[in-house]
Amino acid sequence: MVKVNGMKSWNCGVITTVLLSSVVFAFVEDLDDTFKDKRMDDVWLVDFFAPWCGYCKKLEPIWYEVGAELKNSGSPVRVGKMDATAYSGMASEFGVRGYPTIKLLKGELAYNYKGPRTKDDIIEFANRVAGPTVRSLPSRQMFEHVLKRHNVLFMYIGGESPLKEHYIDVASELIVYTYFFSASEDIIPEYVMMSELPSVIVFKDGTHFTYDEYEDGSLASWVNRERFQSYLQIDGFTLYELGETGKLVAIAVIDDKISPEKSLRLKTLIQRVSREYRDDFYRDFQFGHMDGNDYINSFIMGEVAVPSFVVLNTSNEQYFLPSEPIERLEQLITFIKSVLEGTAQAYGGDGFFQRLKRVVYDARSTIMSVFRSSPVLACFLFGLPLGVISLMCYGICTAESDDDTDLIKREGQTDEDEEEIDVRHMAAQLKGPREDDEVEKEQVEKSEADKKLD
Ligand SMILES: *[C@@H]1O[C@H](CO)[C@@H](O)[C@H](O)[C@H]1NC(C)=O
Repeated sequence: MVKVNGMKSWNCGVITTVLLSSVVFAFVEDLDDTFKDKRMDDVWLVDFFAPWCGYCKKLEPIWYEVGAELKNSGSPVRVGKMDATAYSGMASEFGVRGYPTIKLLKGELAYNYKGPRTKDDIIEFANRVAGPTVRSLPSRQMFEHVLKRHNVLFMYIGGESPLKEHYIDVASELIVYTYFFSASEDIIPEYVMMSELPSVIVFKDGTHFTYDEYEDGSLASWVNRERFQSYLQIDGFTLYELGETGKLVAIAVIDDKISPEKSLRLKTLIQRVSREYRDDFYRDFQFGHMDGNDYINSFIMGEVAVPSFVVLNTSNEQYFLPSEPIERLEQLITFIKSVLEGTAQAYGGDGFFQRLKRVVYDARSTIMSVFRSSPVLACFLFGLPLGVISLMCYGICTAESDDDTDLIKREGQTDEDEEEIDVRHMAAQLKGPREDDEVEKEQVEKSEADKKLD
């Protein structure tokens, strides 16, 4: 009886899955050479994938959900996927270099998606970029509404002007990052102080800041600097996005589970600095916190205490650590100033030895990730040569004397044990999302494998 029931529900499951998938699959179009002709007709969201790439496989079910949800929400965006290895000519025309690459194609323009590969994030990106470059706000209610919805938003206020044209240009490029609105002055509430019109204003951190051509440099660079809240929760993806602003990233590395009180204290200190000392530091620093030290450990190829404070320069991979734990506001200010003035000790960097260290570190990470994803394959790959070598050693040693063999065998065992511990330690360190690197590596390995096949 039980068995029959089991079979039934299994059948049901299969049928539902098949039905569901055929419904879901219908919203993602398989693209081929003919895509060149139809891309201009619509706005497209395309996943350029390679059949062998692991991250592409991980994205696939999410991609179908994205397709279905965009369709159901009435979005005009068409969702497709293209095997970039089968249509490599077209993929390279679109500038596809790693896999998977997600692009939104809108007329002549192509926008890269670099954020987390989750359904919600991808859909948010598609809706933002596919919509109008500058969204004009018709009423006070709409103004209040978007203010509530977005943590950071840029707004042009005033009538037609050269500044507005410039604003639209900047928006058409930077819409990949954030939202751009425009409004006439009469819908803006009084509490928004405008010294002159037209103005470009950023609303964030519960307040607003006005763009000043003379103090802030070009509009594009100002938008790039201002597009994040002054204090953020940071993960691997945001870290590199933050890096693109050219700012140093000042991070509280915390763990709410291990040391909730100390973590909170450090977080609060950094939040205070980001607000109260904005004018001193916001041009050079982005502030935030990171949960856990896995990611930072892999960035610095070492280990930081939790909680602790670290400043990263993502453009040259240098980092700065205070010599003692930060307890007080003055301490923090002094340290940040010393980084800014160049008197703080810099670690890491992208010099020759650091890069060498990175290569070794990444190679170890790759080996570890092979172990994690398919232990059997890994044992075979790395175990076989080791086995052969140890057999040879064994052969050579037994030829000499029995006593020595025993000794070597025991030594061999300890080595192995040590390696195992090291492996676990490394695996724990490597949970950070250095996905892009791994994707690239996978790509290189594959192309080498391809060459061999040829
Ligand atoms: C961060 O790196 C960039 C690029 O190498 C460099 O120009 C800048 O001076 C560095 N900042 C600090 C504070 O070291």
